Amino acid sequence: MAQLSTKIHSLIAREILDSRGDPTVETMVILESGYRGVASVPAGTSLGKYESVELRDHDEKRYGGMGVLKAVSNVHGAIASKIKGMDALDQGGIDKVLIDLDGSKDKHVLGSNSILSVSLATAAAAANASRMPLYRYINQVFKPFSDTQMTRIPTPTFNIINGGKHGAGNLDFQEFHIVPASNKSFSVALEMGVAVYKGVKEILKYRNAVYSVGYEGGFAPNLFTNMDALEILAEAITSGPYTFGVDIFFGLDLAASTFRLERGGYKIKDKAGALSSADFIRYLVELHKKYRLLILEDPLDEDDWGNWVALSKEIGKDVLVVGDDLLATNPERLNRAIKEGACSAILVKPNQIGSLSEFLGVIAIAKQAGIKTIVSHRSGETNDSFIADLAVGVQSDYVKFGAPARGERVAKYNRLLQIETELASGKSF
Ligand code: PGA
Ligand code: ZN
Repeated sequence: MAQLSTKIHSLIAREILDSRGDPTVETMVILESGYRGVASVPAGTSLGKYESVELRDHDEKRYGGMGVLKAVSNVHGAIASKIKGMDALDQGGIDKVLIDLDGSKDKHVLGSNSILSVSLATAAAAANASRMPLYRYINQVFKPFSDTQMTRIPTPTFNIINGGKHGAGNLDFQEFHIVPASNKSFSVALEMGVAVYKGVKEILKYRNAVYSVGYEGGFAPNLFTNMDALEILAEAITSGPYTFGVDIFFGLDLAASTFRLERGGYKIKDKAGALSSADFIRYLVELHKKYRLLILEDPLDEDDWGNWVALSKEIGKDVLVVGDDLLATNPERLNRAIKEGACSAILVKPNQIGSLSEFLGVIAIAKQAGIKTIVSHRSGETNDSFIADLAVGVQSDYVKFGAPARGERVAKYNRLLQIETELASGKSF
């Protein structure tokens, strides 16, 4: 049979909506053979300062300025004219062309949204043309960065209560998680996540505190303090069949840049006055003693490097101190964190860096340095499940895809269920 061409024939981009009702970019890459791949990009709400920049129209007459028609036209114009005719199997070459065409450090010229949608859709098209499931194709693209065997589904960390910018406005901490023990299979872990999620709902109903769900599908209740949220999680776990500290652990994403005071220090509802950074660290150490946290993400501001190092010295051995806004999936910031010992894990989000190849490079640096990896969604998501395949392909330690509820979140979990059965069957799909 003649070899079917994997050259890129055309690109079709469009403006679609994300789970918050905000526009985002979806791109289809069509190969000369007729094989195609589609990918859409997510968007954050609590954006880090050091992320790549998505291009918005800022035309107040459409979607409150959030439209992405300029990014869509960049795909059809500048990007298409450069990458048409290139081989979709050459992910590195295509990403390099996209990066060079933009020319800026933060991708603000063409927009990280236009660039990433093309980068991911190229991989999806190449996987289809290679008749491989996407996770297997990604694993192959990842080989030159890090030769990784696919043996497991990463452990999920479930966001059960949403606060901060994702919630109802009365909790400072952005995310309250439960993390099933890593020795559970993914399908068992998912069932545990759902059991606790439903248990929390019952407790909130009983307390008359259900408000709504937040951006990531977790509950956004009327509570007074951050501690109240942790107490409710603890109650939901202990009233169920699972043992806290054996089967299930706690995780938090503080997104602390959102409540850091301009003059330095932090202010949270649980304390009457403002806390200095040193006092806030003491508070976090106490919090860990009480709740035995497994994951503690963005406990401090994204520029508070010295205090990250101080906190990691105190609790970094037993807690995964995770850099999200701190690191922004950026290789230079990750290298600095490794050198200084600022954190022990990295949250990795494709749209923070803006291309698949750069994303894979960041994962490889983390793995090499023994930094744990958590592949993550954004608060504004679509039903695209690319990141599920991505997490399996690079064998991240954890995945953070939100609550085990709401369509755009369960799209990823359901994809992991499919992959779990495929891997277990031992067959190459
Ligand atoms: P974001 O939140 O997508 O709104 O940035 C996710 C996170 O902080 O982890
Ligand atoms: Zn975060």
